[in-house]
Formats: sequence, C-alpha cells, structure tokens
Amino acid sequence: MCGIVGYIGGQPAAPILVEGLARLEYRGYDSAGIGVLTSGKPKVLRTVGRVRDLEASLPKRLTGTVGIGHTRWATHGPASEENAHPHASADGRILLVHNGILDNATALRERLTAEGVTLHSDTDTEVLAHLVAAAEGDSLEEQVLAALRQVTGTYAIAVASADQPDRVVVARNGSPLVLGIGEHEMFVASDVAALVRHTSQVVHLDEGELATVTRDGFHTFTADATSTTKTPETIDVEAEQWERGGHEHFMHKEMHEQPETLQRMLSGRLDDRFATARLDGLQLEPRELRAFRRVKVLGCGSAYYVGQMGASMIEDLARIPADAEAASEFRYRNPIIEPDTLYVAVSQSGETADTLFAVREIQRKGGRVVGLVNVVGSSIARECDGGVYLHAGPEVAVASTKALTHMGIGFALLAVALGRVRDLSFADGQRIINGLKQIPDQVGEILEQEDAIATVAKRIADAQSMFFVGRVRGYPVAREGAQKLKEISYRHAEAYQTSELKHGPLALISPELPTVAIVPDDELLDRNLGACHEIAARRGPLVVVTHEGVELGDLRGDRIDVPRNEPELDPLLLTIPLQLLAYHAALALGHDIDKPRNLAKSVTVE
Ligand code: F6R
Repeated sequence: MCGIVGYIGGQPAAPILVEGLARLEYRGYDSAGIGVLTSGKPKVLRTVGRVRDLEASLPKRLTGTVGIGHTRWATHGPASEENAHPHASADGRILLVHNGILDNATALRERLTAEGVTLHSDTDTEVLAHLVAAAEGDSLEEQVLAALRQVTGTYAIAVASADQPDRVVVARNGSPLVLGIGEHEMFVASDVAALVRHTSQVVHLDEGELATVTRDGFHTFTADATSTTKTPETIDVEAEQWERGGHEHFMHKEMHEQPETLQRMLSGRLDDRFATARLDGLQLEPRELRAFRRVKVLGCGSAYYVGQMGASMIEDLARIPADAEAASEFRYRNPIIEPDTLYVAVSQSGETADTLFAVREIQRKGGRVVGLVNVVGSSIARECDGGVYLHAGPEVAVASTKALTHMGIGFALLAVALGRVRDLSFADGQRIINGLKQIPDQVGEILEQEDAIATVAKRIADAQSMFFVGRVRGYPVAREGAQKLKEISYRHAEAYQTSELKHGPLALISPELPTVAIVPDDELLDRNLGACHEIAARRGPLVVVTHEGVELGDLRGDRIDVPRNEPELDPLLLTIPLQLLAYHAALALGHDIDKPRNLAKSVTVE
C-alpha cells in the first residue's frame, strides 16, 4: 500500500525513480510523484493518476542524482496533486515520502497550524516534513529522529534535504523498506520489485530501524542512534518475472503460470517413502507436530478464504479441530491463545498489516505461529516462528490467483504432515501425495478451457448482481469466486452456503440474477443438484462448476468441468475456473484488470 523509492548515485535520479515507481505501482496507483535534489532548489513533480502520467510530465532536463519517489494509495485526503508525495517543508528544502498512517496527525496538524505553519495538503504525511525541518539537530539523521519521536503510527519514510544532498535518510516502523546496494550508488524501495533491475544485493530494514544511504554505502541504526549490523542478502529473482511477458495483463500471466509454479512448489516436498510432506521450514519436530490439539488459520481477504479451505483439509486429513478467521478482526476480540494450538498466518505479500498484527498478538501471548508466505524476507515470513514459502514467484496483479493456489497446496502439505504423525494411514497419505502430483497438469487442463469459460463470462458480465454458492468444502470456493468477481468486474457478487439459500436469499433469484454453483461429485452431490433445481425452477440462470462426468439431467444452464482428484483437494481445482470467469467478465466490461479501482496489492495499513 503506497510504494516508496529512493536513489543516490552517479546517474540522473528521475528516470530511475520513475522506473522503480512503475514496478511498485501495484502497491497504490491514485497518484505519483518524485522529488529530485538539483543544484539549486529541490524539484518536485507530482500528478494525479498513474506513473505513466508522471513520466509524461517530466521535463527533458532533470539532472539531479539524488531523489525520492512515491506512488500513492490514498488514506488521508482524496487523490489530488496537493496530496500526492513527496511533501516538502515550508522552505521546500526538506522532501519526504511516506507509506503508512500517522495516528496523531490531526493533533500535529492543529499544533503546526497554531505555530503558523501553512499546510498545503490533507495528508498525515505533510506534518512530518514540517517536523523534520523544525527539528533541532546537526545532521538530517538527528532531525529525522527528533521528528519521529513526535509521531505515533506506522511508517516507512525516505527523506532528502537540499542542505545535506550527500544522503537520503530512511526509517521503518510498521511498513516495509529495503535497501539495494549498487556500485557507488544506493537504492531504497518498499519492496525488491523496484530493485531487481539494478542489483541483487539487498538489505531488509528491521522494525524500528533507520538508515542513512550515501553514494558509497549505508549505515543502519536504531531510534536511540545505536548502530546496527546488517548482512546483505542476495535475491535470486529475475527481473523478467516482473514483466507481463506477452500477456495482456499480469493476472492472465499469473493464472497461466500456475502449472509450472505449482510443480516447482511441490518439488522436493513430497516424501513417497513415508507418504508425507517434507516441511523443514516449519522447524517443528514430529513430537511437536503431534502435540498440537487445534489449528487456527489467520489471513485476510482471499488468503482467509483459502485458509478456510486449508482448515477443512487439516480437519479431514489430520482430524484436528481447525478453523480460519479473518486476521483483521483477531486481535480486537482479545483472543484466547492456547499453547497447544498451532497458529498459521497465510499471506501472499507477507506485509498485510492486519495479519502481521495478529502474528504479534499471538506471540505476545506465548502462542506458536508459522507462516505460509510467498514473498521471501517479508515481515510475516521473518517474524513467524518458522513456515513454508509458497514459491509462486512475484504476483503483480492486485487480484490474487496463483499465490492462492499455492496457499492451498501449502495447506494440503501441512495437513498431510500433521496427519501422518497422527491417524492418517500410509495409504491415505500416499493417496493425497499422488493427488498433489496431478494438480499442476490438471490446473493446466482447466486453463485450456479458457475460451469456453470466456464465453460464459461474457454472458454473465451483464448481470448487476450474482450469487456464488457451495457447501462445506465448496463454500470457501464460492466465497473466493465472489471475491474475485467483485474485485475486478465491480459487479455485486455474494457467496452463500447452498444450504442457506432457502432460508432467505432464494427470494432474490430471478432471470436477472445468475448463480454460480459449486457442485463437486462428493457426498453432497444430490443435495447440491436439488438446490440447482430450486434455482432453475425460479428461472435463475445457472453456471454449474462440477466434475467431469457428473450427470446434470434436465438442468439448464452453463457447465464448467474440472478434472477429478481426491475429494480433500477438490477446492484447489474448483477455484481455477472462477479465476478465469472473473478475468473474462472484467475484460468484457473493459476494466483495468491489474489495477482495480480503490484497491492495492499489499495492504500495509490497518
Ligand atoms: C484478493 C486479494 C486480497 C488479498 C488480501 C491478503 O484477490 O488479493 O483479498 O488476498 O489482501 O493479502 P496477502 O495475501 O498479501 O496477505
């Protein structure tokens, strides 16, 4: 949520900053801006809209070699040029970009106004620029520290000063920040996406850490000015992984990458000899795995829905009570943390503030929490007591697809590992392992039906409102299907347990309201088909997502088939056509699929 970049080196900063912002745009895309220290006054350029609009407004000659930049997801105040970052001090000599939320901004604004400072924006960030400028201190670092002592809330900031143009000072508290190390140049970014073109050597700042970056290196320290030691890490991601690679949208590319990325995730993790999963990253001995009496999954949005799929896999295979909860609500209900519960935080970005705060709440109360996380080195990955990396590769489209399927696989592996130290038989362990081996190809088979699914999507795209229904294992699939459609098509879509329809929502069924019904060939098949007949009898259009070979009789409507696998793994495959359905509905409606309105990829604010 909001992306920040910084550069100091020997090259013109502006193009580097703009290119970095374009790569971070998935974090927020209401407005964008850069500030560059030129020999005279700092130059600030800001624009409402996309980074490409900012790029178009750049003057031909902008030669400064030190600068900071920002792409915004509005929290305080609408998207406007005044609210775009960088913000500047009254004399324009201090420039500052910020990702996060300052909780005491209102009080600080009142104080600054009383002191005679004119504020030019509605943002919380602007106060920080003024506080830095007014702070006592011999160096920019001291000024920044003094300013930060006056604010509460979350931030990642980058600050440049025309009076000390040999450095950029950055600070992290609740929002991510990473330094990139080059040859006589240094980079700063919210995440590595902005760095991969320039360097593979990075340093992740820890919570509460600050850094000074100069042309020749960096120095990290804490709020009491104590120096810290950091060892650079090497990132092994190719810059091309952040490109669309011939696809019209990142979402399309990411859906189609799944067979390959899933194969990669599974490799080395399936143990045929003991019919189990190898998850060394959990850092849990079989004895410890056996001791857990309950599993609680925490995630947000789609990650929460996959968490529900995962909880039911764990209950089915390991026979341990398991449930999933929205991480965003967790810490506010004073949860009881049990020592014999395994807590699992699930997140693509590893930076979702709500999930991160749930992790901290669990740890504060003595609980054990492991992560299922995609982004290597992210906050959740680093703060959990072990975990499983999802290895889906970078996911750029705001609407998550491949990372979710990887989460589902992660849960299946965890369920087998937990089951095999309990009552799950060798044969059942092997059955699931064999099922998992088929998943990558079967996902590929579903993707081959894209044209047919696109035809269905175009038909339903006209409906203003839609139901997605499923039962037991199918219900989280329905929730995720509705979520995906809402996010990118802006159509109203609501998920229900199929069994609940007759308790109220059936009243809404009409020829104008299509229902997407999840109907796997399982023990609930007849009941699910019965519900479909009840919908059809009320002339509700139907799209039935089912297994190959299921007899639908005289039921009219569209059908989408998925291949058969083991019932416990059904949700993984049933979700794939719903990704395509949402994508093609949004495409038919002409929306900006990778950057849906009002959303951002990485939700680093509460
Ligand atoms: C939906 C979507 C969001 C995320 C949620 C959690 O397509 O992307 O609902 O799933 O914001 O994000 P992560 O997984 O990064 O914690």
